[in-house]
Amino acid sequence: MSTVEKYTLKNGVEIPSIGFGTWQTPDGDTAISSVKAALEYGYRHIDTAAAYQNEQSVGKAIIESSVPREDIFVTSKLNNPDRGYDTTLKAFAKTLEELELDYLDLYLIHWPAAASQFENWKQINNDTWRAFEELYKAGKIKAIGVSNFKTHHLEELLKTAEIVPMVNQIEYHPGFRQQEIVDFCDEHEILIEAWSPLGTGKMLDNDILKEVAEKYATSVAQLCIRWCLQNAVLPLPKSVTPARIKQNLEINDFTISDEDLKMMNELPYIGGSGLDPDKISF
Ligand code: A2P
Repeated sequence: MSTVEKYTLKNGVEIPSIGFGTWQTPDGDTAISSVKAALEYGYRHIDTAAAYQNEQSVGKAIIESSVPREDIFVTSKLNNPDRGYDTTLKAFAKTLEELELDYLDLYLIHWPAAASQFENWKQINNDTWRAFEELYKAGKIKAIGVSNFKTHHLEELLKTAEIVPMVNQIEYHPGFRQQEIVDFCDEHEILIEAWSPLGTGKMLDNDILKEVAEKYATSVAQLCIRWCLQNAVLPLPKSVTPARIKQNLEINDFTISDEDLKMMNELPYIGGSGLDPDKISF
């Protein structure tokens, strides 16, 4: 079983430095068996969301696994239609119920309300965040954060926030480092989590990455995961395939050289989800 190091969030909460992503993992048997496999192989950090519609299965897998609840870091996210103060409180209760848990380790605003969809986007995000702060203070969540927030969303949130988000989960992979957001978050001690560290799989057949991976006798997936860690980012690779789930944790037997890290950091865009938080329609 692989062991995973931990990052420490600014409130002192420890978070395993690799999480198991479940976006696009079908609900039911697939979600249950892949989360169980992940726990068996040594993952202690599972990332889900109300919008993924697999919270129930993730919860079942946690219960059915032999790993005690308190040893697992569980993240979920507020679904976009539930933004706002009262609706957030209700949605959070529903998430706990679906997961069959009595607390979450981390809860994130999944996507910011953006100007393209809402005239009062600032107010919506601030109201949502107030509910997050309340749940945090009540001890129902160990850490709170946001996801897909760009710098301007964070700047507005921080104007009224009593508690600065501890995490910002963004799309992050070679060719798409969103450096302006990362720099802003570094300044405010907000840990960056990488969703789709493999670019939803689009990194895997890139010739440059293949060549670098070959040099380190590793796979492109492992290279991308290791690259996140060497950039002090927390990767959340997703897979439903046991051998890959296992492989994605085995990243400690090589170190990317400074030169290769720099080269990978400077790669131009080579694909990704194509989702822009300022332009989403969901
Ligand atoms: P699958 O789930 O069928 O195993 P990302 O985490 O960037 O969103 O990428 C997820 C995609 O990458 C999924 O299609 C997943 O396939 C695939 N994937 C995950 N890990 C590996 C791996 N080690 N080797 C090859 N493909 C992988």
